[in-house]
Amino acid sequence: MEIGKVNELIIYVLAEDYAGYNSPFWAQHGISFLIEIRSGHMRRRILFDTGSYAEPILFNMKLLSIEPKTVDMIVLSHSHFDHTGGLLGLMKEINKEIPIFAHPEIFKISFALEPEFIYAGIPPLRGGSKEAIEELGGIWILTREPIRLVPGVFTLGEIAEDEKVEFEKSQTLGLYTLKDGKIVPDSINDEIGLAINTEKGLVIIGGCSHPGIVSMVKKAMKISGIKKVYAVVGGFHLINANEERINNTVDALKRLGVRKVYTGHCTGLRAENMFLKKFGNNFEKLHAGKVIAIR
Ligand SMILES: [Fe+2]
Ligand SMILES: [Fe+2]
Repeated sequence: MEIGKVNELIIYVLAEDYAGYNSPFWAQHGISFLIEIRSGHMRRRILFDTGSYAEPILFNMKLLSIEPKTVDMIVLSHSHFDHTGGLLGLMKEINKEIPIFAHPEIFKISFALEPEFIYAGIPPLRGGSKEAIEELGGIWILTREPIRLVPGVFTLGEIAEDEKVEFEKSQTLGLYTLKDGKIVPDSINDEIGLAINTEKGLVIIGGCSHPGIVSMVKKAMKISGIKKVYAVVGGFHLINANEERINNTVDALKRLGVRKVYTGHCTGLRAENMFLKKFGNNFEKLHAGKVIAIR
């Protein structure tokens, strides 16, 4: 794939589990980033995930002087409610025809059985149904394949089992789905990531990074043929991971030459602490209202 490059990338953190100290921004469980691309006179705004609820995102957008109508495209990293729950409310404010990129299984039934039954997928009243979103102008682009959105920006598509590094083949989250009326383990292979080729190298963005952030970085390198990785951004779902998995992840990212790590959400304090130890000042904790500029 001919990828291209962006001159400037700005990531506004619209939803995060943490708001920062003494912050005017609202926190919530989930992720939402506004990804702004600038290349020459071109400016594109991609909304990556929609948190659990729309209201705190709209509140934070106002503080950042971002008009919802200026969003050009939406990417949903995966089906989980803390990434899709704000979609309906945000679509009402975006109020125009807009492409929404996601995996074909984004609407699947996904649930936990411990400690009790918990539905984990798109919440119908907040995230909306396929049809409800279409009625508001949403155009679903559901594909397992990587797709280039603008020059320098592409989704990773599905990370196939044989594209995963060995230590990321096991899940760190036990969920189930339904197949022909049978309850089967959910492989959570509906997560697609986003990658941006900047002057400093690739920036890879994950929602929860359920396929594993290392496998996602490798996929971005494989798609683009670019070996230089500047940053990884997002939740890495290491909150329930054992120490070995955490160490393997941190070491592998180091070995791949990743310079900066921006993480929070489901990464967990133990993993964040390890990133701080190994990356020092190049580790930054995400929080609502944080603005990351890469040029
Ligand atoms: Fe999440
Ligand atoms: Fe998730």
